[in-house]
Amino acid sequence: DWTMASYRQEAIRKIREQVGDRKVICGLSGGVDSSVAAVLIHEAIGDQLTCVFVDHGLLRLNEADEVVTMFRDNYNIPLIHADEADLFIGALEGVSDPEVKRKTIGKLFIDVFQKYAKQIDGADFLAQGTLYPDVIESVSFSGGPSVTIKSHHNVGGLPEKMGLKLVEPLRELFKDEVRALGRELGLPEKFIGRHPFPGPGLAIRCPGEITREKLEILRKADAVFIDQIRKHGLYDDIWQAFVAILPVRTVGVMGDGRTYDFACALRAVTSVDGMTADYYPFSHEFLGETATRIINEVKGINRCTYDITSKPPGTIEWE
Ligand code: XMP
Repeated sequence: DWTMASYRQEAIRKIREQVGDRKVICGLSGGVDSSVAAVLIHEAIGDQLTCVFVDHGLLRLNEADEVVTMFRDNYNIPLIHADEADLFIGALEGVSDPEVKRKTIGKLFIDVFQKYAKQIDGADFLAQGTLYPDVIESVSFSGGPSVTIKSHHNVGGLPEKMGLKLVEPLRELFKDEVRALGRELGLPEKFIGRHPFPGPGLAIRCPGEITREKLEILRKADAVFIDQIRKHGLYDDIWQAFVAILPVRTVGVMGDGRTYDFACALRAVTSVDGMTADYYPFSHEFLGETATRIINEVKGINRCTYDITSKPPGTIEWE
């Protein structure tokens, strides 16, 4: 009879059998999947595991601190915190094409990961939080003609380049099962229930050119929106929610002065697997209150819209 407790024991046994006394590196994204994989592997092989968390400067407010604190303090897992914000933001200067953004970030991510992986002398394995739907998707994609809507940012190709073998202890699991396993491993509930966050981060929520100024504004607005959603008890009903900062300034009036600031769009959707999605039916009161808070609390935004596009025809992210 199948339980998460027995899955955990069996997974640990398999990891020990595969890895033996060799070393494993694991890229952490701050998301649930890679975190659960890391904690599970650490339970199996202890400090033969080192995690690398690449901060590309496109994370949400306080996100890097939260991830690093959880892994260092709660789990005592060896962790390299790679602060490479300047590198990524510099490379993205003047780039506004969505695919060029994604490819620039993907390539730099591999370079940076390789650089830090060298510090872990003699690693033989790369751990990834690959889930069952990821396995299925890549099989069906390679089987027939397909249209690439977006180049997904992951570490594809990296293991071969680095001569590493893969450890993927979540390959048989769906998202809800990964969350159950995370609970079984004692990860904080707030972490387990987190909305998915894309590898390219805030870059794809900032259509047009990315600047530090826009990223700063976007981080603050996003934090207010998520705070509103939590305060109204809606966080767990929503698959994903975020703010996108639009590449346009509009005229407004505040007090007795004219403003000329950025407009933003709120995005919140329900979904089962991210493949299709419906916009979330917030009440008008909620939307009004949120817009007022964002415009009052975030300097640099003076107009707020709500994105009511479902997927298809829209995608969840803006790029
Ligand atoms: P879209 O925008 O394609 O997003 O409707 C579907 C889901 O995938 C996430 N997403 C990504 N996740 N790397 C990721 O790890 C990526 O490059 C990427 N692009 C989109 C998105 O946040 C949503 O949950």
